[in-house]
Amino acid sequence: MPQPNPQPGPVEREFGVAFPGRVLEATKWTQTALKAMPADGRLNWTDLFGREAPVVLDLGCGNGRFLIGSALTRPGHDHLGTDILPVVIRYARKRANQRGLPNVRFAVLGAHELLERYVEPHSAAEVHCYHPQPYYDPAQVRRRLITPAFLALVHRCLIPGGLLVVQTDNPGYWKYVREVVPVFFDFHERIGRWPDAPKGRTRREIVALKRGLPVFRGHGTAKPDLSEDDALRLAEALPPPTFDADRRLRALDELA
Ligand SMILES: C[S@@+](CC[C@H](N)C(=O)[O-])C[C@H]1O[C@@H](n2cnc3c(N)ncnc32)[C@H](O)[C@@H]1O
Repeated sequence: MPQPNPQPGPVEREFGVAFPGRVLEATKWTQTALKAMPADGRLNWTDLFGREAPVVLDLGCGNGRFLIGSALTRPGHDHLGTDILPVVIRYARKRANQRGLPNVRFAVLGAHELLERYVEPHSAAEVHCYHPQPYYDPAQVRRRLITPAFLALVHRCLIPGGLLVVQTDNPGYWKYVREVVPVFFDFHERIGRWPDAPKGRTRREIVALKRGLPVFRGHGTAKPDLSEDDALRLAEALPPPTFDADRRLRALDELA
């Protein structure tokens, strides 16, 4: 006797904000782990997702909230999220699996390494980077993700006119972003919240909004006439991200 199709699971919440999608019955779960990167060469999106579709990357994706929401609302796009922290990728994968998503993968991998070694130049449609860590401690400043060299790599991985979205709640980081990103992208500050997620696209955005922190959002398209060599030359001439991230903000983070 066929069983009636059970109702999807209850809505999950993070800080009171609904996480996109619902847990499906186990027979509909998918496997969204990207466990091994190619031993030699780059990722082949068609092989990875079994079709040709625009590819969306989320670098430092945390628990995958943005990417899972995008994969649900844009089934015609394929998505890859990476983060250096295995624990957050485990959460992201579990939720994506349980939502039965065929168009998303998650991997434990640094963003710079992903772009430099594994993404075919001019093969991704979008790159998203939400709340990269500001690293308050001067000894860790060199770990900041957004550098001129990183932006040149983002530009290289995008198709002409491809989209970059950057967001932070750190004023020092934002000032730096506004200085360097427009060298590679036709960049615009977004005033106001994202219409698709007014309570926050990502976990960190939700936390920042709840704490009353300002959230700075911007998006831009890759400059079409900038060659890889020119981008690298420009990157060398730009300042590194040595801005003051303001340790008082870390104290606020730790309090919370
Ligand atoms: C403040 S959290 C933001 C996470 C998520 N984007 C959000 O908005 O909720 C920063 C994330 O970046 C990750 N991260 C730090 N350096 C990274 C790197 N080089 N490559 C990829 N992820 C990185 C951290 O592990 C952390 O999960």
